[in-house]
Amino acid sequence: MTTSQVHFVPPAPVPPLEPPSTRAFLRAVRSNSLGIFPEAAYREDTWVRRFLGRRSVLLNAPDAIHRVLVDNHSNYRRSGTAIRVLRPTNGDGLVLSEGETWRRQRRTIAPALAPRVLPMLARHIAETTAEALDSLAERADRPADLLAEMQFLALEIAGRSMFSLQMRQYGATMRRLLGEFADRYVQLDPLDMLLPPSIPTFRDLARRRWRTRWMRLIDTILHARLASPDTDDTSDLFGLLRASRDPETGVGFSPGELRDQVSTMILAGSETTALNMFWALTLLAQAPDQQRMVAKEVASLALTPESAFADLGKLPYTKAVVQEALRLFPPAYTLVREAIGADQAGAIALKRNDILMVAPWVLHRHHALWDRPAAFDPSRFLPDRPSPPRFAFLPFGAGPRTCVGAQFALTEATLVIASIIRRFDITLAEDRPVLPVAIMAIGPDHAPPFRLSPR
Ligand code: HEM
Repeated sequence: MTTSQVHFVPPAPVPPLEPPSTRAFLRAVRSNSLGIFPEAAYREDTWVRRFLGRRSVLLNAPDAIHRVLVDNHSNYRRSGTAIRVLRPTNGDGLVLSEGETWRRQRRTIAPALAPRVLPMLARHIAETTAEALDSLAERADRPADLLAEMQFLALEIAGRSMFSLQMRQYGATMRRLLGEFADRYVQLDPLDMLLPPSIPTFRDLARRRWRTRWMRLIDTILHARLASPDTDDTSDLFGLLRASRDPETGVGFSPGELRDQVSTMILAGSETTALNMFWALTLLAQAPDQQRMVAKEVASLALTPESAFADLGKLPYTKAVVQEALRLFPPAYTLVREAIGADQAGAIALKRNDILMVAPWVLHRHHALWDRPAAFDPSRFLPDRPSPPRFAFLPFGAGPRTCVGAQFALTEATLVIASIIRRFDITLAEDRPVLPVAIMAIGPDHAPPFRLSPR
């Protein structure tokens, strides 16, 4: 596929020409955050707006992003609103911890997700995916909801690789709780934005009640894992996490911390990856040439639990599709930080309390950084092509707080997409455009039906 060929351009909301008014901004934050970025944000190095008396600065320039996420990262912390929304699911787990606690947690968790565990993960992924595809094949005469299928599959993979447990029995409750959280508690009230996170808002009280129910479910899963025979500290991520010790102090996680880490991993590890796989399939369903390229690449591979890890190295095009889906529809669409002190980030002087945004959604569609940014062209990520500009592609963030599960996610998405396309030719079963909506992550505005034809 050459760059001169016509590529599919997936539908996306048209950015407003003018910066949204405060009322439109609030509406967008509650219904689809992609609407907060005006056209200029996709062309300029920085875009600044004042909101409720505070300055929000969107950074697109590599040196400014590098300063905030890498060089001087300790001058920036998660914003109060992010803490309110993330606390119920993450508790004191890795995503929200700060300072020395964060460093200790990160050092402890990193070995459990290190490259050496990828062969074990690949085995779990291949096994679980094969079962899911057998079930899909039995239903191939009816349209498939691949959003729901990917959510259940990602949860099942997370459950098996983390807990050696079948998650089927917990899937429905988990989806119901997560749906309720997304519908009711992710939206921000003005008070959520005005008050410091130490002061609970009414919505926070409801979020806390939700957390009690969520943690009950996590406890049920933990108990099932602790009671399951034939598991030890090497059989899965839970075992590795439980056994892992901070290399510097020799201290492991307390039971409370372990519980929060487990909740963090289940959620961070399944929702984002499920959405990435869904978008990759939605793109391939609408781009037959690219789907053929994947089908050709996977045709001779076995993709069995035994071969999956070795097969991964033979899937450069499929991996490029996954990366291109991450570029066009990055599940984590904005990283938000709050400046603890003044700083100079590239050309812009930042003040204490400024809100900084690094938005993969904007960066990945920036006109100065990408050729035909709106087009679906996986070949831009092929190994023989020049790498994307520095800090232009940040689906997993950057710097010390970069995603700890990035390799897990890429391994999973690449193997799952390869396995599905090896088995089925996929198309959308209706013409209605599938539009991205960003609330907690970038999902679709509706779950489109897919037609699956066995190859
Ligand atoms: C496509 C899938 C995924 C995407 C797009 C994604 C994206 C991200 C991003 C952007 C961050 C950085 C947030 C920030 O700097 O504010 C992050 C952090 C994190 N991710 Fe992921 N992630 C994915 C999969 C996973 C998986 C599979 C796991 C676990 C198995 C995971 C666990 C975490 C954790 C624990 C953090 C916090 C790291 C820290 O603060 O030190 N993620 N992720």
